[in-house]
Amino acid sequence: MCGIIGYIGERQAQPILLDCLKRLEYRGYDSCGIAALSSGIEVYKDAIRVEALAKVVPSLNGTAGIGHTRWATHGEPSQLNAHPHLDCSGNIAVVHNGVINNFQRLKKQLTSEGHNFVSETDTEVIPHLIEKYYDGNLEEAVEAALHDIDGSYAIIVLVAGESRLVAARKDSPLIVGIGDRENFIASDVPAILDYTNRVIYLEDGDVGVITQDNIKVKRNGTEVDREEHKILWSIEDAQKGGYEHFMLKEIHEQPKVIRDTLGGWVSAAEPAVDLAEMMRAGLEALLILACGTSYHAALIGKYIVEELLRIPVRVELASEFNYYGQTLARTGAIVITQSGETADTLKAIKRLKEVGCRVLAITNVVGSTASRIADQTVYTRAGLEISVAATKSFTAQLMVLYWLAMSYSKVEARRSASLLLELRQLPRKVQQVLDNEDTILTCASYLSRYENMLFIGRGINFPVALEGALKLKEISYIHAEGYAAGELKHGPFALLGGDTPVIAILAHDNTYEAMLTNVKEVKARKSAVVALAEEGDEAIGELADFVITVPRVDALFSPVVNSVALQLLAYYIARQRGCPIDFPRNLAKSVTVE
Ligand code: AGP
Repeated sequence: MCGIIGYIGERQAQPILLDCLKRLEYRGYDSCGIAALSSGIEVYKDAIRVEALAKVVPSLNGTAGIGHTRWATHGEPSQLNAHPHLDCSGNIAVVHNGVINNFQRLKKQLTSEGHNFVSETDTEVIPHLIEKYYDGNLEEAVEAALHDIDGSYAIIVLVAGESRLVAARKDSPLIVGIGDRENFIASDVPAILDYTNRVIYLEDGDVGVITQDNIKVKRNGTEVDREEHKILWSIEDAQKGGYEHFMLKEIHEQPKVIRDTLGGWVSAAEPAVDLAEMMRAGLEALLILACGTSYHAALIGKYIVEELLRIPVRVELASEFNYYGQTLARTGAIVITQSGETADTLKAIKRLKEVGCRVLAITNVVGSTASRIADQTVYTRAGLEISVAATKSFTAQLMVLYWLAMSYSKVEARRSASLLLELRQLPRKVQQVLDNEDTILTCASYLSRYENMLFIGRGINFPVALEGALKLKEISYIHAEGYAAGELKHGPFALLGGDTPVIAILAHDNTYEAMLTNVKEVKARKSAVVALAEEGDEAIGELADFVITVPRVDALFSPVVNSVALQLLAYYIARQRGCPIDFPRNLAKSVTVE
């Protein structure tokens, strides 16, 4: 979960590397470093953020260089463990994103061959392996080194005396940005959007040889063509657009995200070839796999698909599935992943494919690994999501699940027609939630003093309670738990009392009366209740201490308006508590290790 960058051109590399690294910090930010090549290689790195590095780094001369912002996996954040890492001579520098599983064995072998290691990282074996094989042909030395490595990697190699950068990837994202008499290599697109919107996606197993005027991609020593993509994202996407935090900007983008995601689908004749194929092949069960917030979208997907397609849906945590999950015959599989790079989810895709399961991936990142290894990919159109806490991508995932299920719905035509009408009104309904922001802000200032909180819901809003709790945990550090409301009496009741408020999510479906009873039970045990309820709901007004109203929608769509309201609530509570909302401690946007 690191961000890597490379530059080669006519301009001084240092300022460009630092600028691009800033845009990569959401991938990891516990330490960083750069290296520049002039007569020799100069390196500067430390366990600090890029902003701080930019203030202390001496000016490193050179028009070629590499940089790294880290998320530690092997070796704690420190100056020695920060990247770039060097070989014994100091003439070979490497930045790496990924994990090398067999690094201890390689390190022992290289040490016995006289190599001197200075860090605890897995990465440091790479420059020493290249040093071992380097006899003037850099590409061959890199390929030989990669041959010895078992694990995942995206690397960029800078060598004294070589006017080119060599890059390679396996199970970690890497792109090449095409400039005019300069070229860039980066972990992902936003890093370089200030300089170019022309990119090439490297594939697993590709080795790129990049000079200021040329880009060559090789596979097993043979040159291959790679398509150039024009990125439509503006640089603004990468900037906050005037909002205080990326998270608030992304929450407010949701009406557009819903339109964009549905837009593509509404015009498509038959959205997902695979689902149609699966349906015709007599799909008997569906398995949906994911992690974190995407898992909560999967849980909501279960209610949507079971109600509309009337087939059983199993939802699994990818990290659990990988160690025990069995796939049944005639099971179709959908995996949901915003980044398309979550290691647990990618591993699950590979496991499913090994047993002949056809896999449909729902992802937000074009060109991501998930989109490459799944049989079919459906893209959410949430645009770049920078804040670690997933918001708009979650809503976009729900849109895809609604549209997939409605495209093969078994419900009667009148119901389908009214659902389609409601779906098209969702952007407006979500805007209504956003327009009610002040009420949520007031509620947040009331709740921000508490250290514990419970979220309760029933039916399709049980996963919404889980997601509301996750959002609050992630960015405010409050210990929050989501529960199926009916479960409280089986234990969590013991947590209730004056210091544990409860957020109750009420939808006008067959669970409404039961939820009202649960709210009364919670009140009886002295917990304050904040209710999320539809406009015009008088009954809850008499019971709850605070009511956040959301627009009336069909219960099937209530998770959308309720989740947006809970995203805002979590955001304003965290802001009230002065938390680093976009970069919460101990978390990263895409979790690329198991
Ligand atoms: C959500 O806010 C978190 N960032 C995290 O739980 C995330 O949903 C999880 O890591 C899965 O990521 P993915 O959707 O990119 O696979």
